[in-house]
Amino acid sequence: MASRAAGGKASPTTAEDTPIGPTGRPYRGFPTPAPLASHGPARIISLCNQKGGVGKTTTAINLAASLASYGRKVLAVDFDPQGALSAGLGITTHDVPTVYDLLLDTKRDPHEVVVHTGVEGLDVLPANIDLSAAEVHLVNEVARETILSRVLRKLAPEYDVILIDCQPSLGLLTVNALTASHGVVIPLECEFFALRGVALLIETIDKVRDRLNPTIRLDGVVATMYDPRTLHSREVLERVVDAFGDDVLETVIGRTVKFPDATVAGQPITEFAPEHAAAQAYRRLARELVSRGAVA
Ligand SMILES: Nc1ncnc2c1ncn2[C@@H]1O[C@H](COP(=O)(O)OP(=O)(O)OP(=O)(O)O)[C@@H](O)[C@H]1O
Ligand SMILES: [Mg+2]
Repeated sequence: MASRAAGGKASPTTAEDTPIGPTGRPYRGFPTPAPLASHGPARIISLCNQKGGVGKTTTAINLAASLASYGRKVLAVDFDPQGALSAGLGITTHDVPTVYDLLLDTKRDPHEVVVHTGVEGLDVLPANIDLSAAEVHLVNEVARETILSRVLRKLAPEYDVILIDCQPSLGLLTVNALTASHGVVIPLECEFFALRGVALLIETIDKVRDRLNPTIRLDGVVATMYDPRTLHSREVLERVVDAFGDDVLETVIGRTVKFPDATVAGQPITEFAPEHAAAQAYRRLARELVSRGAVA
């Protein structure tokens, strides 16, 4: 059922010609990004929300793959000990160097840890359960909030965009991600408690801006798991728009069972089912972020 909702051609989450989109604004098409003549330095974007299961990893994977399909050089950083981003891109993380090793030894060359994926133009810094020890290990380090930033500085020249998939917490790892980032994208699930805790997230971003990273900005809020058939989903989205106004990205990601299917296959949905409405939605999100200037 759910897949039909998001997969149906007439769904307002997908039809490019619908006059008014689900966020209540005219539903524009965004132009295909022009090819880049040269690559880098990367703009760094964190996918962040301390609430679990809202679509951070799914958005990181599919936005990364979509941007790569437009010729951008993309690095996706798995910054969650669950390693879901790595797994979702079919990367084994057992017994391989990971981002954790780079945090512990900032002299190590991060290029040794970067893994190429099956998607052209998309690389990954993988993570595994080792990363769960990072907060404890790093707590006594000097400048402990800027460690990831120092790691990514060495990789940024070669990429157009770096997406960091944060874990569902506002701890030291997330603060490292925010400190390293130019922008934040907040995925919000269209569910009853969507806005609960978001004030704390915004407060955390404000603190990071104040103390560590003066130029960080909110690139946008992306509504995920939207089901246009339910009044509930539509009401939640309305409240999100009331709270964030134009910061809510016009592209809304519909709810569909294709995502778990793609995860099992270890592929982005844009590769697994490129014509599916959800794949189209993520490509549209990529185009929207390029038109907003969040990505080159
Ligand atoms: N648009 C969608 N429609 C249906 N299911 C989805 C959608 N987006 C993500 N999912 C599924 O919801 C679950 C949670 O998604 P995801 O792992 O992306 O969230 P997360 O915010 O990264 O979670 P965590 O906080 O645990 O890291 C996954 O099983 C994923 O396949
Ligand atoms: Mg995740």
